[in-house]
Amino acid sequence: MIPVKSSADIQKMRRACQIAAAALKKGGEAVRPGITTAQLDKIIHQTIVSMGGKPACLGYCGFPAAACISVNDVVIHGIPGGRTLKEGDIVGIDLCVSCDGFIGDNAATFACGSIDPEAQRLLDVTKEALARGIAAAQAGSRIGDISAAVQGWVEENGFSCIRDYTGHGIGREMHEEPEVPNYGKAGHGPRLVPGMTICIEPMVAQKDWKVKVLSDGWTAVTRDGGLAAHFEHTVVITSKGPVILTQP
Ligand code: MF3
Ligand code: CO
Repeated sequence: MIPVKSSADIQKMRRACQIAAAALKKGGEAVRPGITTAQLDKIIHQTIVSMGGKPACLGYCGFPAAACISVNDVVIHGIPGGRTLKEGDIVGIDLCVSCDGFIGDNAATFACGSIDPEAQRLLDVTKEALARGIAAAQAGSRIGDISAAVQGWVEENGFSCIRDYTGHGIGREMHEEPEVPNYGKAGHGPRLVPGMTICIEPMVAQKDWKVKVLSDGWTAVTRDGGLAAHFEHTVVITSKGPVILTQP
């Protein structure tokens, strides 16, 4: 069953999403050579709390921080800690905020100082994949239309879509139905109706899409050591088109 939200629900959810967007922006602005991922997490945590939100990742299935911070070949779920960022790193920040009974979720990948042109292209293509996925999220269309839009664009550019993790519905829970895969066939899957709230989140690998999870039980890395990027927005389907709730 895919939950459909009322306009009052969406109003509340917008607040959680706006805090999530502000915290992501703050975290992104703090990315620079010499900072540790734990310091970034602290900035994000403080931003969320100062705006009246709660970091929803903290404690979720035992996750120990406010944000997932995923550097270079880490695809998602990197645990903030003592790792010091260096010039040329790409840094994924993914965070969820709970406020007034609803959750907002967003992610972006940031350049640390100046990065390789090929790393920059990975960021650009992944960000555009998110834009294309969102554009496909029209009432009356299907989840597969989003998946196909993302996959088509990514593969056209010579990169691959992670298969082991997907986007998801969101609302009172961080993860609700439906799954929103970053690969699939147009015209397939659940139909989108106004009031559905979903996270569209392309995770894109420079080379092969196969991943493995490290012994900490969280950190998902590419098996071949290639770079990976991740961008995510929380979106509500409306009769007038998709609306990004996590747009700052
Ligand atoms: N934003 C991630 C997601 O979309 C976070 C979940 S993992 C967590 O699923 F444990 F850190 F919360
Ligand atoms: Co998500």
